Amino acid sequence: MLRFLLHRLLIVPLALSLRFGAAFEYYTFDGPGFPSCYNVSKVYNATSVDDMASAVKAAVQAGSRVRASGKGHSWYDTQCSDDWTVLIRTEDVHGIYNFSLPEGASSGSVVFDAGVTFFQLAEYLHNRGASVGYTLTNWNISFGGSIAMGAHRSSLREDSMVAAGALALDIIDGYGNIRHIERDNANDQWLAASTSLGLLGIIARIKLQIYPDTKVYAKQDILDESAVLNGDIYGMIAPYATANFWWWPYKKKFHHRYYDVVASDSTAQQGFQNTFSVTALEGNTARTLLDSGKYLATSNMLAEEVFFGIWSKPNFHEKTNNTEIKDWPVYGWNYDVLIGGLYPDQLPEWDYDLHGLTLELAFPVTMANKMLKRVRTLFDAELSEGTIMASTYRSGINIKFGKPYYDLLGQVTYNTSDGADWSKGAIMFDFPSYRPTIGDHKRFNEAFYPKLAQTLINEFPCRPHWTKNSRQVLTWAVKNLDLDHLRRFKAVREQFDPNGVYRSVVGEILGVY
Ligand SMILES: Cc1cc2nc3c(=O)[nH]c(=O)nc-3n(C[C@H](O)[C@H](O)[C@H](O)COP(=O)(O)OP(=O)(O)OC[C@H]3O[C@@H](n4cnc5c(N)ncnc54)[C@H](O)[C@@H]3O)c2cc1C
Ligand SMILES: *[C@@H]1O[C@H](CO)[C@@H](O)[C@H](O)[C@H]1NC(C)=O
Ligand SMILES: *[C@@H]1O[C@H](CO)[C@@H](O)[C@H](O)[C@H]1NC(C)=O
Ligand SMILES: *[C@@H]1O[C@H](CO)[C@@H](O)[C@H](O)[C@H]1NC(C)=O
Ligand SMILES: *[C@@H]1O[C@H](CO)[C@@H](O)[C@H](O)[C@H]1NC(C)=O
Ligand SMILES: *[C@@H]1O[C@H](CO)[C@@H](O)[C@H](O)[C@H]1NC(C)=O
Ligand SMILES: *[C@@H]1O[C@H](CO)[C@@H](O)[C@H](O)[C@H]1NC(C)=O
Repeated sequence: MLRFLLHRLLIVPLALSLRFGAAFEYYTFDGPGFPSCYNVSKVYNATSVDDMASAVKAAVQAGSRVRASGKGHSWYDTQCSDDWTVLIRTEDVHGIYNFSLPEGASSGSVVFDAGVTFFQLAEYLHNRGASVGYTLTNWNISFGGSIAMGAHRSSLREDSMVAAGALALDIIDGYGNIRHIERDNANDQWLAASTSLGLLGIIARIKLQIYPDTKVYAKQDILDESAVLNGDIYGMIAPYATANFWWWPYKKKFHHRYYDVVASDSTAQQGFQNTFSVTALEGNTARTLLDSGKYLATSNMLAEEVFFGIWSKPNFHEKTNNTEIKDWPVYGWNYDVLIGGLYPDQLPEWDYDLHGLTLELAFPVTMANKMLKRVRTLFDAELSEGTIMASTYRSGINIKFGKPYYDLLGQVTYNTSDGADWSKGAIMFDFPSYRPTIGDHKRFNEAFYPKLAQTLINEFPCRPHWTKNSRQVLTWAVKNLDLDHLRRFKAVREQFDPNGVYRSVVGEILGVY
C-alpha cells in the first residue's frame, strides 16, 4: 500500500511535470477559492502579438490546450476545459496604433492589442478628443476578453455590445497563425468571430470604431416597483444613450439610471463614477453584516436598506480634486461618467473579501414586464413560506438592456428559430448575490437561486451571458439557443481550430466539439 502510494505521489507527478510542469488552479479576479481553470500547466506573460503566436505554436507542439487570459474578470470555472491548458496572458500586450479621427468626422477608428483595458484606451482617446461611445463594459477589463465573451453595457438606442464597435479582428488560430477578419455580415467567419467565446483562437488585435469625445450627464430616479413592473419599460430605457434599472426586491423599489450627451461647453464639472471601490470601514462593515445574513434574513433586509440609501446618492467624485458630488444630475466626460474607476484612496470591494455569485439571462424586451413579474411571484412564493429575500449586492439586481446586434452567439442576436421577437432588443436580468466567507459558503436560502434560474430558462426564450453563469445554468440554457447558429459556429470553429486547442467548458456545453 505504502509503495503504491509512493509510486502515485512521486512517479506520476514527475512524469507529468516533465511534459507540462505540475498542473494548478487559476483564479478569477476574486482570487484563491474562485477557480476559473483547474488544470493549468503554465501561465505565459506574452509581450507582443507575435510572441503570443509563438507561444501558441509551442503549446500545440507540447500537446497542450491554450486559452487567453485577460484581467480575470469572470465568475465561474468555465474559462478552460478540464484538460491541461497553457494560459497566455494578454495584460502586457497593449499597443495602440493608427488613431484616426479626422477633424469634423462623425467617427474614426483605432487599432490596438487584445490586452488593452477600457481605462487604458479611454485615457489614450480622451487625450486625442475621442471616445469609444457606448460599447463598454467596465474599467479594468480587457477588450479582447470582452469581445470574446459577448460583453456589453446597457442601451436600446445605441450599440452597446463591445463587439458591435469592432471593425476588424486579428485572431491567432489553432495553428498559431494570425488571421485577419473584417466586419461582414454575409460572412459566417465574421458572425462567429464577433462573439467567439475564445473558441476560434486568441483575439490578438482589434480595429475599433471611435467617435468625437462628448460630455454626458448621469441622472437617477427612484421608482416604486409597480411603476416598473406595470410600466412602459421600453419607453423608460430607449430614449437614452444608455440606461438601466437596479431592483431592490425587499424594499420594492427601483433605481432608474440614465445618461445622455450634453454640449461640452455647457458644464465645467468633471464627474468620475465609481461602481466598485469602498473604504476599509464600509468594506469590513458590509462583510460582517452580509456574513450574518447567511443565517438571518433580517441582516439581508438591513443590508438592502443600507445599500439602497448609499446607492440613491451619486456614486461620483469630482475628478480634479476627488471631492464627493452630492446632486443629480452629474456631468463629465463620456468615459469618466459612464464607467470611471476606483477612487484614489479606496480599494475594490473584493479586496475586502466581499465576493459574489451571479446569474445573467437575456430576454426579448417585449417580455420585460412578464419576466420581472414572474421573478416577483418567485420572491413572493418564498415569502409565503416565511422566507424574506433581499438583494445582497451593493447595487441591487442589475437590469440591463441591449439593442439588437446580429451575430451567431451574442446575447442580443435576432432572427432565431425560437420564434421570439428579439428585433426590439433584450432585457438582461443580472442577479449578483453575496457569497458568505463563512461555513459552507452557501447563500441564505441557497436553493432559491437554482430554482429561479431553472424557472426562467424553462418558461422564457432566454439566453445566458457567457461569463456570468455557472456550468449548471449554462447547461440548462443551451436548449434555448438556435441550433442553426450553433451548427454554423461549429463549422467556423473547425476551420479556425480543427484540433480543439482552444476548447473550453462553455464550448463543450454548447456542443461545438
Ligand atoms: C467587476 C466586473 C464588472 C463587469 N461588468 C460587466 C458589464 O458591465 N457587462 C458585461 O457584459 N460583462 C461585465 N463583466 C464581465 C466581463 O466583461 C467578462 O467576463 C470579460 O470576458 C472579462 O474580460 P477579462 O479581460 O477580464 O478576461 P478574462 O476573465 O481573463 O477571460 C474571460 C474569458 O475570455 C477569454 N479571453 C480573454 N481574453 C481573450 C482574447 N484576447 N482572445 C480570446 N479569448 C479571450 C478567456 O479565455 C476567458 O474564457 C464584468 C466583470 C466584472 C468582474
Ligand atoms: C507574469 O505577470 C504577473 C503579473 O505581473 C506576475 O505576477 C507573474 O510573476 C509573471 N510571471 C512570470 C513567469 O514572469
Ligand atoms: C488534467 O488534464 C490531464 C490531461 O488531460 C488529465 O489527465 C488530468 O486528469 C487532469 N487533471 C485534473 C485535475 O483535472
Ligand atoms: C496601421 O496602418 C498602416 C497603413 O495603413 C498599416 O500598414 C498597418 O498594418 C496598420 N497597423 C496596424 C497595427 O493595424
Ligand atoms: C487592474 O488590475 C490589475 C491586476 O490585473 C491590478 O494590479 C491593478 O491595480 C488594477 N488597476 C485598477 C486601476 O483597478
Ligand atoms: C473641487 O472642484 C470643484 C470643481 O472645480 C469645485 O467646485 C470644488 O469647490 C472643489 N472642492 C475642493 C474642496 O477643492
Ligand atoms: C434571417 O433569416 C432568414 C431565413 O433564415 C434569412 O434569409 C435572412 O438572411 C436572415 N437575416 C439575417 C440578418 O441574417
